[in-house]
Amino acid sequence: MCGIFAYVNHCTPRPRKHILQTLVNGLKRLEYRGYDSAGLAVDGGSNATPTIDTKNNNNPSAHIVMIKQKGKVKNLDEKIYKNQELDFEVEFGTHVGIAHTRWATHGVPNAVNSHPQRSDKDNEFVVVHNGIMTNYKTIKTLLEGHGYEFESETDTEVVAKLIKYLWDNKENDDVSFSTLVERVIQQIEGAFAFVFKSRHYPGQCIATRRGSPLLIGIRSESKITTDSIPIYYSSAMKPTLERTESRSEVVTQDAEGGIEFYFASDASAIIEHTNRVIYLEDDDVAAVVKGGLSIHRIKRGNVNESGARVITSLQMEMAQIMKGEFSSFMQKEIFEQPESVVNTMRGRVLWDERRIHLGGLADHITEIRRCRRIIIIACGTSYHSAIATRQLLEELTELPVMVELASDFLDRSTPIFRDDVCFFISQSGETADTLMALQYCKNHGALTVGVTNTVGSTISRMTDCGVHINAGPEIGVASTKAYTSQFVALVMFAMMMCEDRYSKRQRYDEIFDALKALPDLIKEVLSLDQEIVNLSEQLHKHKSLLVMGRGYNFATCLEGALKIKEITYMHSEGIMAGELKHGPLALVDSDMPVLMIIVKDQVFGKCQNALQQVVARHGRPIIICDKEDQESPKCASHVLRIPQTVDCLQGILTVIPLQLLSYHMAVMKGLDVDFPRNLAKSVTVE
Ligand code: M6R
Repeated sequence: MCGIFAYVNHCTPRPRKHILQTLVNGLKRLEYRGYDSAGLAVDGGSNATPTIDTKNNNNPSAHIVMIKQKGKVKNLDEKIYKNQELDFEVEFGTHVGIAHTRWATHGVPNAVNSHPQRSDKDNEFVVVHNGIMTNYKTIKTLLEGHGYEFESETDTEVVAKLIKYLWDNKENDDVSFSTLVERVIQQIEGAFAFVFKSRHYPGQCIATRRGSPLLIGIRSESKITTDSIPIYYSSAMKPTLERTESRSEVVTQDAEGGIEFYFASDASAIIEHTNRVIYLEDDDVAAVVKGGLSIHRIKRGNVNESGARVITSLQMEMAQIMKGEFSSFMQKEIFEQPESVVNTMRGRVLWDERRIHLGGLADHITEIRRCRRIIIIACGTSYHSAIATRQLLEELTELPVMVELASDFLDRSTPIFRDDVCFFISQSGETADTLMALQYCKNHGALTVGVTNTVGSTISRMTDCGVHINAGPEIGVASTKAYTSQFVALVMFAMMMCEDRYSKRQRYDEIFDALKALPDLIKEVLSLDQEIVNLSEQLHKHKSLLVMGRGYNFATCLEGALKIKEITYMHSEGIMAGELKHGPLALVDSDMPVLMIIVKDQVFGKCQNALQQVVARHGRPIIICDKEDQESPKCASHVLRIPQTVDCLQGILTVIPLQLLSYHMAVMKGLDVDFPRNLAKSVTVE
C-alpha cells in the first residue's frame, strides 16, 4: 500500500541532490509495500545558494517544486534529473522534503493523482497520504462551494485544499502549522497518515496519523537529551489552538547542533539513517519546528492517555533488508527459514528446563486458560497459519478454537463476549481489516492477543498482550518466513497452555523434541531446490494447478495455492481432499496438474483414497510425501520426498516445496516475484 517518506535536515547543510537521493532511496525501501506511482516535493530555488535564517526559520527559496510520475521509483528518479529548473548542487541548511509511493484507490495511477497533492497552483501546502478518507466527498462539495478547484480524482487533494481553506480563513497570522493540521484531522473520517509541507512554514514539517502507520527517526551528531517526547493536549475545536509556547522537543546539547528527521510508513526506510525512532499514536500531531520535535493531540473525553511518546531503538539490522547473494527478497526469505524459526523460539523454548515461556503472554496466561473460547482473526497467509495450528490448539487447550477471516468476521458482526480471547495474527501488524476486527473485539471487552512480526506496529501496540514472531523483516510481498514463524509461535502458545497438564505430557514432549530438530529438517527440505526447479519447468506453462491434502496439511494446500496465485498469476486452488468427490473431482483429467500432500499421519489412509480417485480419472499427481512412504509414489508422475516430523509440525515442512515451486515458476515466467501486480505487502485499506 502507499508509502510515506519525508526528510528534514535542520542546521545540517545538504546539497539538493543529497536531499533528493535521500527521498528517492526512502521510497525504494518502501517499494515492497506495493505501489503504482511515486512523487515528491522539495524546495525550489535558483542557483544562488539559499541561506537559512535559523532565528526566524526563514528560508528565502521556499517555493515548492513537485515531481510526480506514474510507475516505478526509478522512473521518478529519471524524471528528477531531467528537470532543467533544479540546481542539484545548491545547498540547504534547513530543508523539508516529502515523498510518496501511491497504490491507487481513488483514481487511476497517473502523475496528477500521485502524491504529493497540492492546495493550489502555487503549491502553498502539499501533503502525502496513506489510507482512505471516507467523508472526502462531503468536504470536497463544501470546498467547491467556496470556490476551490480540484485537479485530481484523489481523496487526498481534499486535505490539501482544506488546510488552504483554514489558512485563508485563519483568525490571525500567528496560527501555527500544527494547529492547522489538528483542525484538518478533526474534519476527517477514515484512515490516514499524513505528512505536510508548506511554503508558509519553511523548515517545518507536520505529520499525523489515524489507523495508518507512521514513525519518525531522529539523527543528530550531538547527544539527544531526552528519551521521550511529552505530549501537549488541547481541547477539541477551541478557536485558539496556538501553542507555539508549549513546545516539547528533542533537544540537542548544542543548541546550534544539527539534527535530521525521517518520517516513514515503516522502519525499513529509516534504519539506514538511524535506529532512534518514535512511533506515532492515532491522532498525534507531530511538528518539527526549528529543529525541535513536539507532539500535540486533542484530548478526547476522559480517555486515559499516556503523557509521552518514548524514543525507542530499532532492533532491525541493515543487512536484514538487503538481498545479499539472493536474486530476490522472496528467495532470501525462503532460505532464511532454518534461522527464522530459531529466532522465533529463541529465549522462549527453554531447552534445558523443557518449558515454553512466552514473556509477552506470561501475565495473562491464567486468564487465557480460563477463557470460554479462542478466536483467531487474520487475513491471507496469517489466516492460514491459524488454520494450520487450530487442531493442535484445540487438542492442547481443550477449548473451542474459531478461525476467522478478518473481513468476514466484521461483515457478520460476529458475537464476541468478555470471556473470549481473540488472537490477531499479522506479519505487518498494520492490516486494516485485522485492525478493525481488533477494535471491534476490544469494544466488546474480549482479551486481545497480537501475534505480529513488526515491533511497534499498531496491532502490537493495541493488543493487551502478545508474541512477536521475530522472523526479521519480510520484504517480499509473498509471505514465506513469517508463515512458518507464525506457525511455530502458535504451536509454542498451545504448548504453554498445557504445560501443567499431566495428560498432555507425552504429546508435549514429542512436540518439544520435534521443535529442536525442526531447523535441520527445514534445511533438508530446502536442499530439494534443484529438484523443484525441474518440476517448475514442467509446470510453469500450465494455466492451473490444484493442491490437495487434508488434516494438518490442508493449510499447506491453501497457503501453497495462495503463493502460486499471487506470484505466478496462475489459477491455483487449495482443495480439502475430503471434499474431492463433492465437486473438485470434475476438474481432474490427464491435463490438469494436481499436487497432493500425503504424509504418514492419522489421515494417511484417507489421503490414499483421494489419490486413487485422482488416478482413476487419469490424473498423474505430483506427490509431496515422507521419505519412507513406499506406497504413494507408485501412482505419481513426480515425487518430492521430505523428512518426517511430528504430525502437527509437518505443515512447516510441506509448505516449503510449494514456496519454492511458486518462486521458480514465477521466475521462469519472467515475473517480478517480490512485487506481484496489483498486490501490496501491507494492506492498510479495507
Ligand atoms: O501483514 P498481514 O499478515 O496482516 O497480511 C495479511 C495478508 O495481506 C498477507 O498475508 C497476504 O496474504 C500475503 N501477501 C500472502 O503472501
